[in-house]
Amino acid sequence: MTNNKMIFIANWKMYGDKNNLKGLKEVLKFERKKIDKKNTIIYCPPYTLLSDVSKILKNSNIKVGAQNCHHSYEYGPNTGCINVKLLKNVGAEYVIIGHSENRFYDNDNIINKKLLAATKENLKIIFCLGETLKEKKSNKTFKVLKNQIRIGLKKIKNINNVIIAYEPRWSIGTGNLPKKSELINNTNFIKKIIRSIDKKGKIKIIYGGSVNPSNISELCKIKLFNGFLIGSASLKHNNFIDIIKKTTI
Ligand code: PGA
Repeated sequence: MTNNKMIFIANWKMYGDKNNLKGLKEVLKFERKKIDKKNTIIYCPPYTLLSDVSKILKNSNIKVGAQNCHHSYEYGPNTGCINVKLLKNVGAEYVIIGHSENRFYDNDNIINKKLLAATKENLKIIFCLGETLKEKKSNKTFKVLKNQIRIGLKKIKNINNVIIAYEPRWSIGTGNLPKKSELINNTNFIKKIIRSIDKKGKIKIIYGGSVNPSNISELCKIKLFNGFLIGSASLKHNNFIDIIKKTTI
């Protein structure tokens, strides 16, 4: 349990259909009952559900985010792509950029363009960072994280709109959490690099990768994070609520 203001992001990935919206309504009920309103819950459904989710969450404290965006700010002939203006138009307030599952297609420079486009549209950014298993094993984690931050955040002026999600790529969807010492070292390293850009220390850092109701209490004990990015465990509303309760109540 923590007394800090925490952020909980539900990333539905390429799951979540209209049936999941029933569960979302349960989370909404839970949120409305809470006396303590200081935490932020953000739902990132697939693009196809953004409109529905925005409607359900209208007039609530739960926020809506997209899972990705195109790097071009302007509308254009890009079949199958979604830019930040289209996201804003259907009610997204946040956007995940640089998620590990998209880093197979996007390099750091493209990711930087996406961040710049999102900033221009005043979307809040959930900027994901993390090393692969190969990079970890060859002791390249710090180098990789540093490059991701330096290139990704290049020319970003409104740094307060960015939440950093540290997600070791080998931990996502695997059930494997980093060792406590590893998490502390890597997160402190990220904080150190960020401090050179964010002098006031306002950027929030959250953790993502195999977070579930069974390991959340251990993760909270580390006391380094401002919240969690939750993938598969967020699809079942009971699990998601459980994670929030164990962190905050
Ligand atoms: P996971 O996903 O919780 O399923 O590991 C995390 C994420 O999407 O970043």
